[in-house]
Amino acid sequence: MEILPLKGDHTQVHNQARTKERKKERAILFNQKKKKKEEEERKKMDVEKVFHMTGGVGKTSYAKNSSLQKKACDKVKHIILEAVEEVYLATTPKSIGIADLGCSSGPNTLSIIKDIFQAIQSISHKIMMHRRHHPHHLISDEFRVYLNDLPTNDFNSIFKALPEFHRLLRQDKNKDNNDGLIPSIFMGGYPGSFYGRLFPNSSLHFVHSSYSLHWLSRVPPALYDKEGNSLNKGCVYISESSPEVVQKAYLNQFQQDFSLFLRSRSEELVVDGRMVLIFLGRRGTEHVDKGNSFFWQILSRSFAILVSQGGIEQEKLDSYDVHFYAPSREEVEEEVRKQESIKLERLDTVEMDTIEQGIESYGTTVAKAVRAIQESMISSHFGEKILDALFDNFARLLDDEVVKEDIKPITFVLVLRKI
Ligand SMILES: C[S@@+](CC[C@H](N)C(=O)[O-])C[C@H]1O[C@@H](n2cnc3c(N)ncnc32)[C@H](O)[C@@H]1O
Repeated sequence: MEILPLKGDHTQVHNQARTKERKKERAILFNQKKKKKEEEERKKMDVEKVFHMTGGVGKTSYAKNSSLQKKACDKVKHIILEAVEEVYLATTPKSIGIADLGCSSGPNTLSIIKDIFQAIQSISHKIMMHRRHHPHHLISDEFRVYLNDLPTNDFNSIFKALPEFHRLLRQDKNKDNNDGLIPSIFMGGYPGSFYGRLFPNSSLHFVHSSYSLHWLSRVPPALYDKEGNSLNKGCVYISESSPEVVQKAYLNQFQQDFSLFLRSRSEELVVDGRMVLIFLGRRGTEHVDKGNSFFWQILSRSFAILVSQGGIEQEKLDSYDVHFYAPSREEVEEEVRKQESIKLERLDTVEMDTIEQGIESYGTTVAKAVRAIQESMISSHFGEKILDALFDNFARLLDDEVVKEDIKPITFVLVLRKI
């Protein structure tokens, strides 16, 4: 005999079913949120845990493939040394604190530290010679040099180069026939993200950072929907097909990061301390141009060739985005304006040539440089098997484009003063 539920039982059964359903919905929502959070966290961790320039001194290392950055820094060296001179004359510290943020593992960091050291030595010498005009100026006899990068950086390669570096400094000092003793130099690696505090209050006089600040602290989380799917499918950076939300996501992340960087450094610098920040940017309001964004377009196309050949899956490419942003001049200025204790003294735009370097084609030089920078992130996402084919595509596509297009990547050079 079938037992029919009473009228009240019906409602009870119905309510129980609804409660169960709601619980299930809540659990799904909770899991989705958790997955998204984990995904965001993973992407953030990726940068701090995975991102590093290719270490060592091998064929594909950053040390062997950073001549473009060196060339650009040489072009603006006069700005760096002018700022060093200004800070020295304004503060004349006995113990001077200098930091290179995003020093990486190539020769560029020690090269700039050597230039800074020699510039200060030369001013000290001038002060000594005209002592009666500068009776209150102290001479720095202690240099504290902090080399900073992410913890995954190959600091060992720099440390191994230090004995030779010290030998060269002593040699140059003897050659210049400068009188007085060589100041003591205390150098150390400072692993950690520059998006946050790194040094004690008022411990730095000069901060240098080259080709590092266009790297964001993470891939912007707003690039992904609730399910963690990328809204920038098929592209690794802002492109013509990117929806508006992608540009906003990148800009928001840049604003957050750059303001945190400035706030942190403003605590660490002494009053009148200076920063020279060199990083990639874009010419106007348009994100997609024939400047730095063009290289990412070439990388997206290089990936697309691998997809069409079955070397990687489309979804894998869809979920790969770079943690890079090329800001405009206005975007940079706006962030600096928000900082009461930092004043922008100068902002120059430098255009880089696209000429061939020695026997290699321009495409090959850029492909090697991009590989040395991006290899860690790409192999963590796709596996390292694709690297050779990917960057062969990159070099070829870029060489095809440079003959047709006037590609002009630009670099910003900022001089900032702590007030
Ligand atoms: C292209 S290299 C530039 C190296 C060197 N300054 C030069 O001009 O050749 C960029 C460096 O910035 C570092 N970097 C990126 N984001 C960073 C962060 N949040 N904190 C510290 N270093 C970071 C990278 O690890 C990398 O070594």
